[in-house]
Amino acid sequence: MTDKKLQHCSFCGKHKDEVTKLIVGDDVSICSSCIALCNQLIDEEKVVDLIDKIGSGDFDAYSIKEHLDQLVIGQKSAKEVLAVAISNHYKRITNPPKDLEIQKGNVLLIGPTGSGKTLLARSVAKYLNVPFVVADATSLTEAGYVGEDAESMIAMLLALADNDVARAERGIVFIDEIDKISRKSESTSITRDVSGEGVQQALLKMVEGTKCRVSPVGKRKHPQGETVEIDTKNILFIAGGAFVGLEQIIKNRTQGSTIGFGAEVKSKTEKQDIAGVTPDDLTRFGMIPEFIGRFTTTVTLQELTLEQLVEVLTDVKNNFIDQYRYLFSIDGIDLTFTSGAIRQIAQNCIDLKTGARGLHTEIERILMPHMFHIRKYKENNIKELEIDVALIENPKVLV
Ligand SMILES: Nc1ncnc2c1ncn2[C@@H]1O[C@H](COP(=O)(O)OP(=O)(O)OP(=O)(O)O)[C@@H](O)[C@H]1O
Ligand SMILES: [Mg+2]
Repeated sequence: MTDKKLQHCSFCGKHKDEVTKLIVGDDVSICSSCIALCNQLIDEEKVVDLIDKIGSGDFDAYSIKEHLDQLVIGQKSAKEVLAVAISNHYKRITNPPKDLEIQKGNVLLIGPTGSGKTLLARSVAKYLNVPFVVADATSLTEAGYVGEDAESMIAMLLALADNDVARAERGIVFIDEIDKISRKSESTSITRDVSGEGVQQALLKMVEGTKCRVSPVGKRKHPQGETVEIDTKNILFIAGGAFVGLEQIIKNRTQGSTIGFGAEVKSKTEKQDIAGVTPDDLTRFGMIPEFIGRFTTTVTLQELTLEQLVEVLTDVKNNFIDQYRYLFSIDGIDLTFTSGAIRQIAQNCIDLKTGARGLHTEIERILMPHMFHIRKYKENNIKELEIDVALIENPKVLV
């Protein structure tokens, strides 16, 4: 090969002075633009994989809901709405329309603590086999302030995708505790720093779709500080929060409009269903309208009932009872719970208002002394442990 040839890209013919970088091999040379083009072709190839799966029906809303049914108790309408939103999102990015712009629809999950918000989002990501990042909104700051900025979420996504940009660009980012970055209340003093609003502003571009540069993990110490560009336009953002106080806002609105003759007066203690939440209610809560506008699907989750909490304990895949039964079986002890005990555990979580989140803590509290004394149980040849209501109220050991 002549020197003259080595100075030109073998693919597009451009001279090395016309391109950012020319990589020269034994027989061929390639310029940075042609490398970028090749990468794009490879990425398109990867997207085709996902289209095939959608074509096979695995990604239709019904299949997603069926999968969620195995893991998430109750929340029927939340599962349906989420399944449709997810299915549409992946349909859109795997079949990009030629002359039509389909808006991305991010998802907002509203529901009390321990109702399954994170569980829903995590289960969907696992089913789709896409990278999934959970970020806490309260730890995010505006760029330039101390703390994690919004782009750190994308860096995490890239890391989970093994630095595969195309895979990261199809991932899901779950922003938890989104209600904690509200503008507090409408009467907040103007002299105070309203940082929550600042974080909402910082997230706007990202959730809508923007190109951001992040450092691939493991390459941070690269001398030139190598970064890669990630386009967030196909990344699905799911924001979740408990929005304590939202019920009252909805109540004020709906009751306000029914004053007058024949108005149905609701009792003060009657529970307000959050399913009818409007963007306006969320603005009143302290979210900025532009932010809410980027979350087109709102999914509301209900507090789990006693029966549903019992189901979470006993029926769901990998439930806590099975998990602890297994742990005790390692030491040759058959652990059982009376049905009364199971209902009592569920009732305790309702009283503590911890939802299903409290079940684990409750069981741990009840079983702790028994787990600690397991050696004594073995020495005394105890092969069975039955937890009843009395043992829940007074967790004493058998020996
Ligand atoms: N509907 C449900 N079905 C089955 N398990 C559930 C359900 N809701 C919650 N759980 C259980 O409770 C745990 C906590 O739930 P999750 O993290 O989804 O709550 P959350 O709604 O995100 O609450 P928080 O607002 O406190 O973050 C989960 O790990 C899961 O085991
Ligand atoms: Mg959560």
